[in-house]
Amino acid sequence: MPGKRFYIETFGCQMNVHDSEKISGVLSREGYRAADSAGESDLIVFNTCSIRHKAEQKFFSRLGRIRKLKKKNPNLRIAVAGCIAQQQGEKVLKRAPYVDFVFGPQNIHLLADLVRRSAPTVADGDNPGLAEKDLPAIRASGSRAWVAVMYGCNNFCSYCVVPYTRGRERSRPSANILREIEELAERGFREVTLLGQNVNSYRSEIGFPELLEKINSVAGIERIRFVTSHPRDLSERLISAIGELEKVCEHFHLPLQSGSTRILESMNRGYSYDEYRRRIDRLRSKVPGISLTTDIITGFPGETDADHQQTISALADVEFDGIFAFKFSPRTGTAAAVMNPQVMDEIKSRRILEILEVQDEITLKLNKKLEGSVQKVLVEGLSETDNKVLSGRTRSNKIVNFVGNAFCIGSTVPVRIVRARKHSLDGEPL
Ligand code: 5AD
Ligand code: SF4
Repeated sequence: MPGKRFYIETFGCQMNVHDSEKISGVLSREGYRAADSAGESDLIVFNTCSIRHKAEQKFFSRLGRIRKLKKKNPNLRIAVAGCIAQQQGEKVLKRAPYVDFVFGPQNIHLLADLVRRSAPTVADGDNPGLAEKDLPAIRASGSRAWVAVMYGCNNFCSYCVVPYTRGRERSRPSANILREIEELAERGFREVTLLGQNVNSYRSEIGFPELLEKINSVAGIERIRFVTSHPRDLSERLISAIGELEKVCEHFHLPLQSGSTRILESMNRGYSYDEYRRRIDRLRSKVPGISLTTDIITGFPGETDADHQQTISALADVEFDGIFAFKFSPRTGTAAAVMNPQVMDEIKSRRILEILEVQDEITLKLNKKLEGSVQKVLVEGLSETDNKVLSGRTRSNKIVNFVGNAFCIGSTVPVRIVRARKHSLDGEPL
């Protein structure tokens, strides 16, 4: 259908953002062009997230507002993709009958067929074969690209919907991943971020450290990152690979979730705080100066003030460069949703504020240590707030803003850090 235009709104994680790139790729192959806004499009795709109630709520209120566009333009088609689609399927159509089709992350390859149908359709359940399907992706940024290496998760952390929405673990064959990365390098991409819900448990004919080794020798690629890792699968072999492979960046995102071993057990995380801490020591000894970030959930069922204080102590003990903190959100179908006692929202709010306050100080302190140092910054583009300012990242994944020439975009430049802020660094190009 040439001439048709689509618009995608994405909620949720990097995997979802990358799925949207694939959805764009499939739609372009079907003759659709990207529209600048929902109002100008013939097809709106919502790529949804169900990780927390808030993400779900945000989508449903957006979907409600889009209804009037459909009243104005009866030819407008609305698709719901992503984790809510996978988990709720038919229920989405029941709740919003003006939706035309629903397909989850395991069914993106069916999209070409779905757009041709006229009756409302829900793409069927699990399709574990997706791991082997290589879909064309249209990538937004010119220097950094996301590459999915594995899908799904087998961990069943008691709070998490991911195993239900993205299914069991499947790894892509390494040859397909390498081919994709070689093509990206040829097209000028300098950095790849390998994506997986549990990326370090990647296993095809080779394991994750070997995959990193192979990617490390792709000419043109300068930086390799990966998210998200599970502490349980952080092997000595992987720690050595990070230290030895020059393109693998000195940054590790390793979700801790709680500083209380009792709560970690109830979360089914498979490690104690001490075990987590020892892995951090190993990482730091093999990769000096490595930057560390984490995820924290506050107000998990049964979390007492003492447990909360252990999380606070853990933040001070590890000194993460940055954290993402979330209030526990009960998700239907997960074990933790029905655990007792649930923590009151006021308590969660108070605890998260305390966590963020403690962490902000640590982040600023660590960032200040970088003042005066020279960092290699891969320039990504103009800063969002000032178009004379360029923005990029250090290998340790810190955002650096500096006044510079737009021709630097896409290259790596040395920048002296002149001022540390909480969430970024200000620099001067050398
Ligand atoms: N409630 C709150 N936070 C959650 N996360 C995952 N599930 C939940 C939930 N039910 C957080 C975890 C995870 C991150 C991606 O989201 O910290 O690491
Ligand atoms: Fe949201 Fe998790 Fe699905 Fe990503 S995998 S979109 S974070 S529910």
